Amino acid sequence: MRIIIVNNYEEMSKKAAMMIASQVMLKPDSVLGLATGDTPLGMYKELIQLYSKNEVDFKEVTTFNLDEYYGINRKNPQSYYEYMMANLFNSININRKNIHVPDGMSQDVNAICSDYEEKIKKAGGIDMQVLGIGGNGHIGFNEPDVNFEARTHLVNLDEQTIEANSRFFDSIGDVPVKALSMGIKTIMNSKKIILLANGISKAESIARAINGKISPKVPASILQLHNDVTVILDSEAASGLQI
Ligand code: PGA
Repeated sequence: MRIIIVNNYEEMSKKAAMMIASQVMLKPDSVLGLATGDTPLGMYKELIQLYSKNEVDFKEVTTFNLDEYYGINRKNPQSYYEYMMANLFNSININRKNIHVPDGMSQDVNAICSDYEEKIKKAGGIDMQVLGIGGNGHIGFNEPDVNFEARTHLVNLDEQTIEANSRFFDSIGDVPVKALSMGIKTIMNSKKIILLANGISKAESIARAINGKISPKVPASILQLHNDVTVILDSEAASGLQI
């Protein structure tokens, strides 16, 4: 695990964007695994900047998002599909048919999940996967007491996650209680992983994930077993680390 500690959110975002841009420069048809939430917003802004300066070209890139709320239409402004369109895809030259976000309205969950896995495989696997981390140690929507062997599947959201994500909804009762998420196995099969975290609210989960025992109670702790993980932290998120 490579751990990079920077001063602030802006530096974290710039470093992460540079890593993605370098990946795409070296392999123009890269397959990127992408995350939503507050953490990667600055990184997406940086990538749009780099694109507008002709420093990176997304024409041949394929993307797979980590997760999507279950029961939410992709046209809903709270959907992760819409988040990706608004915060990245509408502003770069990615081919729409290369964008993949699990379909939260699908009736046949097993079919949609195995189809997602199949598409990742057909694309040649994920070259670089971006991850945020939950205050409870989740990655994607792989909540504590995770099954490390799971691939893309339907998950019940943890209470802490529902509460954390209620900031995006009118009321906590509007937050979906289920989601489709890549599983830990899907994430661990990525060739390279970048984990981003900023702010004091992530200090404890980062310390448990990096210095703690590998345990299903802390889903991100499994990343200790991956051979190409770069963790980029601001000083607050890094403040609980023993390194
Ligand atoms: P955040 O969420 O980026 O909004 O903090 C991260 C996560 O829950 O994985």
